[in-house]
Amino acid sequence: MLFLYICGMNLSNDLLIRAAKGEKVERTPVWLMRQAGRILPEYRKIRNSLSGFKELVETPSLAAEVTIQPVDILDVDAAIIFSDILVVPDAMGLSYEMIEKKGPFFRTTIQSQKDLESIEIPDVEDKLSYVFEAIKITKKELNGRVPLIGFAGAPWTIFSYMTEGQGSKTFSKAKKMLYQNPTLSHQLLNKITDTTILYLKAQIRAGADLVQVFDSWAGILNKEQYLEFGMKYVNKICDAIDEVPVTVFSKGAYSTLHEMAQLNCNTIGLDWNMDVQNAKNIFNNNKTLQGNLDPCALYSDFKTIETKTNLMLNKFGNSRHIANLGHGLYPDINPENVKCFIETVKAYNYQNK
Ligand code: CP3
Repeated sequence: MLFLYICGMNLSNDLLIRAAKGEKVERTPVWLMRQAGRILPEYRKIRNSLSGFKELVETPSLAAEVTIQPVDILDVDAAIIFSDILVVPDAMGLSYEMIEKKGPFFRTTIQSQKDLESIEIPDVEDKLSYVFEAIKITKKELNGRVPLIGFAGAPWTIFSYMTEGQGSKTFSKAKKMLYQNPTLSHQLLNKITDTTILYLKAQIRAGADLVQVFDSWAGILNKEQYLEFGMKYVNKICDAIDEVPVTVFSKGAYSTLHEMAQLNCNTIGLDWNMDVQNAKNIFNNNKTLQGNLDPCALYSDFKTIETKTNLMLNKFGNSRHIANLGHGLYPDINPENVKCFIETVKAYNYQNK
């Protein structure tokens, strides 16, 4: 019994895990990036009762509650822990604020060797204990209904925020550092990578059944730069994590898909601009592909959502697939439309899956 428990066999719905490992599934599992929070009135109610986003992230019982909401309300095949990728720089000593309707903001940023020395590879168990506590509560409350996904930002995406200080269309300050000071850039990326590995391993110890690495800003680097400053560190993370399946979602990394086929991970996330047939040719069913409906498709009517979702499923065919969007849900998408997407995936006429 203990053995089964440790192996994660205690899940009554383990479609996501089996699909990630390339095992046989009765149907394609479905979940959505950014399903926790944002679109649900039930989330906003809790969120509005607090001082802000950070309080929710740092209060384990509430973070667990909003993590489980989409499982209850939307009937997805996985939960993703409610947190943010920016808890990592926060734990390293570079704290962020989440400004209402604007997004993340860092009062100080990393620009010099001296700045780099001021941040540390933290004792994650201590500094990020609120995340692990939230994972433990969530696992207990989910009681094996669906797997729980843990996550972290990829080093390049975290580097972007730590150097730029806030969101940006171009991330030109972050890119400037790559050109002006590649040595410092690599030192910072190494520090982030070491912290991220410790962080993901601690999430797994706390109960995460699968982990996803988000490289949201992969697409702003050219091929050579992404290989040197992005993929190199994602590769290190993938090599370090062998406890649970790993998903890598590098948004916009069109020029490095061939190299991504060599990553030591189970699943590759595809954004909505990635051509499914091309990806199938490159990954050759050696990895599971996740995605990739355009999130904006969920602004259309039910009939169109059904048609677009079925079209997407037809493209993946009977190859290894986890249904999702090509990026996160937008806050103003109607939850009923999200349900239509999920129900369409579940009702698809699966043959030879
Ligand atoms: O997927 C989930 O449902 C789990 C929770 C989750 C959040 N952020 C909660 C959140 C996850 C996986 C993230 C990841 C994240 N955070 C990424 C990578 C994924 C991606 O979308 O590319 C990035 C780049 C961030 C950084 C971040 N956090 C930004 C830029 C913003 C502001 C703009 C926005 O997207 O809303 C956030 C805030 C944030 N993170 C919110 C939520 C629910 C909205 C805060 C609120 O409640 O008002």
